[in-house]
Amino acid sequence: MESERLQTVLLTGASSGIGLEIARLLVSHGCEVWGTSRDPARLPEVPRFHPVRMDLADDASIREGFAQAQRESGGFDALINNAGAAVFGPTASVSAELTREQFQVLLHGPLNLVRLALPTMRLRPRGIIINISSLAGAFPIPYMAAYSAAKAALSTYSQCLRLELANSSVRVVDVQPADINTAFHTATKRVAPAEDSASQEAVWEVQRSNMAAAPPPQCVAEAVWRAIKSPNPPPVIKVGGFFQAKFGPWAVRFMPVRWVDRFLRGYYKIQGGSHES
Ligand SMILES: NC(=O)c1ccc[n+]([C@@H]2O[C@H](COP(=O)([O-])OP(=O)(O)OC[C@H]3O[C@@H](n4cnc5c(N)ncnc54)[C@H](OP(=O)(O)O)[C@@H]3O)[C@@H](O)[C@H]2O)c1
Repeated sequence: MESERLQTVLLTGASSGIGLEIARLLVSHGCEVWGTSRDPARLPEVPRFHPVRMDLADDASIREGFAQAQRESGGFDALINNAGAAVFGPTASVSAELTREQFQVLLHGPLNLVRLALPTMRLRPRGIIINISSLAGAFPIPYMAAYSAAKAALSTYSQCLRLELANSSVRVVDVQPADINTAFHTATKRVAPAEDSASQEAVWEVQRSNMAAAPPPQCVAEAVWRAIKSPNPPPVIKVGGFFQAKFGPWAVRFMPVRWVDRFLRGYYKIQGGSHES
């Protein structure tokens, strides 16, 4: 069976939500999973799961966590860049420091792990890098600009990497979840509203209620497992509810950006709007 050749997995953000479900599913299929958290006490205690402390906001922590996992595993067949969290607030009022931290956790941290894992992965008969980005890369969420932009960058990075590795044994898959019912919204760091507070409240509430009604994280874990098993996985996997993950991306393909903006303003119940576009 193909999957038997992909045994060792490094998975970030294994303590909660999508990552926790991926960890559970992969160990149930016999994979050895090195899973990370900033606090290993939050990680599951199950057979074939190996805890790793890692804070993606801290390059030294990434190096140390990776070195430990690499030593214990002897190298990885699969790297799953899953960990992430968002900052919510008016784009121009979110500090440069918080904005940089978003890009560190969502982009530079995952890229560092690719740099660290790839040299030994390339020597193996088969390897896979799965980056969990977001549909927010294509459909940016108002007041989550750094998050949406970092996810878009991660998707573009995945595509470049895939083109460059086309003749290697390593596959690159960009998994783009729609809203998924996890602790993500609760973990979102909210910056005190400075302006447009009615719009912010509206977007926050749309996000909260959408996530509460969204599919469970198992659907993303199953998509990841199918990609791992496949010798020729799809390059991009959109996963989630039908409207967000299927109909929306299909419907906007030929729409002018002006229409997409108008749709997003309506979708997020953004108040007022001084100019009609
Ligand atoms: N839920 C959604 O609707 C949705 C939609 C699209 C994309 N996504 C993406 O899916 C991924 C998983 O999110 P989720 O929904 O499962 O959220 P979650 O339940 O809040 O889990 C987030 C995970 O990321 C880890 N994490 C957060 N900040 C970290 C940091 N600075 N360094 C290391 N690890 C960190 C957390 O671990 P510790 O706190 O234990 O360190 C936790 O395991 C994220 O990249 C998210 O952007 C989620």
